Amino acid sequence: MDLRNTPLHFGLIARVFHWLMAVLIIVMLMAGLYMTEMPSGPSKLQIFGLHKSTGILILMLAAARLTWRFTNPVPRLPPGLPRLVYFGAHASHGLLYACMFAMPLTGWGLSSAGGRPVSFYGLFVLPDLVGPDKALGRTLAGAHEWIAYFLIGLIALHAAAALWHQFVRHDGVLTRMTSAILLLCVLLPPALRADEPPAHFTLVPEKSSLRFVANENGAPVEGQFNHFTADILFSPDHPEANRVEAEVDLASVASANDDMARELPGKDWFDAAQFPQAVFRSVKFHAQPPAPGNPLREYYIDGTLTLHGVSQPVTVNMTLEHYDAQSAVASGTFTVSRKAFGVGSGQWKDASAIRDEVTVKFRIAAKRSVL
Ligand code: HEM
Ligand code: HEM
Repeated sequence: MDLRNTPLHFGLIARVFHWLMAVLIIVMLMAGLYMTEMPSGPSKLQIFGLHKSTGILILMLAAARLTWRFTNPVPRLPPGLPRLVYFGAHASHGLLYACMFAMPLTGWGLSSAGGRPVSFYGLFVLPDLVGPDKALGRTLAGAHEWIAYFLIGLIALHAAAALWHQFVRHDGVLTRMTSAILLLCVLLPPALRADEPPAHFTLVPEKSSLRFVANENGAPVEGQFNHFTADILFSPDHPEANRVEAEVDLASVASANDDMARELPGKDWFDAAQFPQAVFRSVKFHAQPPAPGNPLREYYIDGTLTLHGVSQPVTVNMTLEHYDAQSAVASGTFTVSRKAFGVGSGQWKDASAIRDEVTVKFRIAAKRSVL
């Protein structure tokens, strides 16, 4: 699994932040409610000390996590969800982040206002956030308590939404924050394991290829791209939840035809200096009905191709050649009109020597990311 996020998945660092902080925050909420009811004594003081230090640790982790989030792509939610769900997801994530700061800051503030300096696990003492002020202390204690109740409700809603994505929509939103192994072995009862949600696959570049066939004066001329990446969420059981995002480095174009290899990255064709990448984003996978005598599964994918600064819908035919717990291999083709993307400008707009239609052929070998 990548350390960084991709457009479809949270990377390892974001997942470790999420689950470490989720456990710490849930334990802190329970400990906070428990400790305030304890009779006075050394145990109560000890738990208060641990609560405060761990709260400050959460504040530090929240700052590091937010920095990481701003320097990483944030995975997009699957397309086709009701608008209210997009809004709810963004608003609730924003509020969860706000609480990760508001809880420790109000806790630190109420301790400082009450004249009780905060030690970090006995290692060092933090500066006071505010001076001694009984009234402010009471207000901050009230805020600390009410934000805690609000956060408990928010976490319940958030976890319910994650389960809705998993068991009602089967769209892989939970698995992109968990690992396949954790989810399959721990969370899912055995009966549900056969019906797998989409899993994250990463491309094996040395076993994958991306070629195209153009037509020059009636004769096929072939080329290929040597550098491309793909981010894949795939399950044969839930094609409607599958997603692919692929990026092709246009300057990596190569061909046995020297003229073509030299000309294509240039201004008249791809203009790779200005538009270095082509991007394919799937919108929807459709499973084809099984054909008699053909054991391989066939799909067609509606998606958008962005090339030369132009985005156009394309339909990709795909055959799943191999699929198991570790890997998948798929091949396929689609046809594009080069002129629709403005590829071939000036004299090359005329399609009599180099035809408008170009066929793209791919073979993707991918391995499943597990943790
Ligand atoms: C994410 C971090 C935190 C969470 C989830 C959390 C949660 C809680 C909860 C649920 C309570 C019980 C509220 C009540 O019944 O009054 C509480 C009380 C308290 N917390 Fe925190 N807390 C956090 C961080 C901190 C920090 C950083 C400090 C101090 C540095 C702190 C200091 C206190 C104190 C002194 C109380 C007792 C308040 C009172 O007696 O009124 N907390 N906390
Ligand atoms: C208790 C079980 C929990 C489950 C099942 C859960 C599940 C998830 C899932 C699946 C996502 C990814 C959503 C997406 O792909 O857009 C997510 C994101 C998030 N979760 Fe949780 N979560 C839990 C607890 C918590 C807790 C306790 C907190 C913090 C108080 C939290 C804070 C967040 C935040 C802030 C995000 C957004 C991450 C980002 O976009 O950077 N979660 N959670």
